[in-house]
Amino acid sequence: MSTSKKTVNRLKKNYGTWILITGATSGIGKELATHFAKSGFNLVITGRRVEELNQLSAEFKDVYKVQTLAVPGDLSLESDVDDLLIKSNHLPIGIVILNAGYGTSGKLINADLKTELNMIDLNCKSVLKMVHHFSNKMTSESRKGALVLLSSMVAFQGVPNAANYAASKAYVQSLGEGLARELKPMGIDVLCAAPGPVASNFSKRANMKMGASLSPKDVAQPIVNAIGRRNTVLPGLLTKVLVYNLRLLPRWGKIRIMEKVMHGFTKHQ
Ligand SMILES: NC(=O)c1ccc[n+]([C@@H]2O[C@H](COP(=O)([O-])OP(=O)(O)OC[C@H]3O[C@@H](n4cnc5c(N)ncnc54)[C@H](OP(=O)(O)O)[C@@H]3O)[C@@H](O)[C@H]2O)c1
Repeated sequence: MSTSKKTVNRLKKNYGTWILITGATSGIGKELATHFAKSGFNLVITGRRVEELNQLSAEFKDVYKVQTLAVPGDLSLESDVDDLLIKSNHLPIGIVILNAGYGTSGKLINADLKTELNMIDLNCKSVLKMVHHFSNKMTSESRKGALVLLSSMVAFQGVPNAANYAASKAYVQSLGEGLARELKPMGIDVLCAAPGPVASNFSKRANMKMGASLSPKDVAQPIVNAIGRRNTVLPGLLTKVLVYNLRLLPRWGKIRIMEKVMHGFTKHQ
């Protein structure tokens, strides 16, 4: 993946050269981080896996000659979110990509409630805390900024057999849509990225067997291009086909279709 020089220049001119990406150790976050490092951006990267994170940080420094700050931590813990905000506070971060997240599947009635609550802590609470922090910081420093929130195509209707995960992403999507209007006058752009199925570590952790999937590369490029241009991006052709087809249905119809899709993703359970 390589972004046009024009886009790289636009992003650097508007937001500077420092980008923070949560969940950079695999999947979509790793792809975005690698892409930005290749384009000469300096990076703050996070993830729980210390070795992977440090390796990636060293690679970016060695290969792409950019500055990096690796902050390991579990962002479902408020103390680790605080730690990240403190350690990165001295840097002029202009683009914040809140990507760390995970899903679950199966009937909620059978689920481990602790895991479901932990998912809310990561997918929703940490995102709220970080958008609040960075929007205040950017505004008080009179700098432009961009906040990118990883939503999902499941955000647009209820999803049986992934009810809590879909609800967590509906929260993210709705938060981003509202904030996009609130923060526009302050020069802060908000983008919700809502991919369809992507082949990454996500499906294993969510215990889903997804069929046709996009690659992290397929979704990363459209996300990068949409920063500062759109409020929501449906990255990748498969995402567009799925979401646009569902849009033709009433909400109850979308829920039924998603029920069938999730049945396919979870029938091995
Ligand atoms: N894959 C899909 O089909 C899909 C579709 C739509 C939206 N999304 C969303 O896209 C985002 C990225 O997912 P992905 O597909 O790239 O999955 P992934 O490969 O599992 O990557 C998730 C990233 O988040 C980090 N992470 C997970 N739990 C964490 C925690 N408690 N604290 C800090 N970091 C944590 C992981 O790092 P560590 O393991 O090192 O902590 C990893 O870097 C998620 O928000 C997901 O909901 C995914």
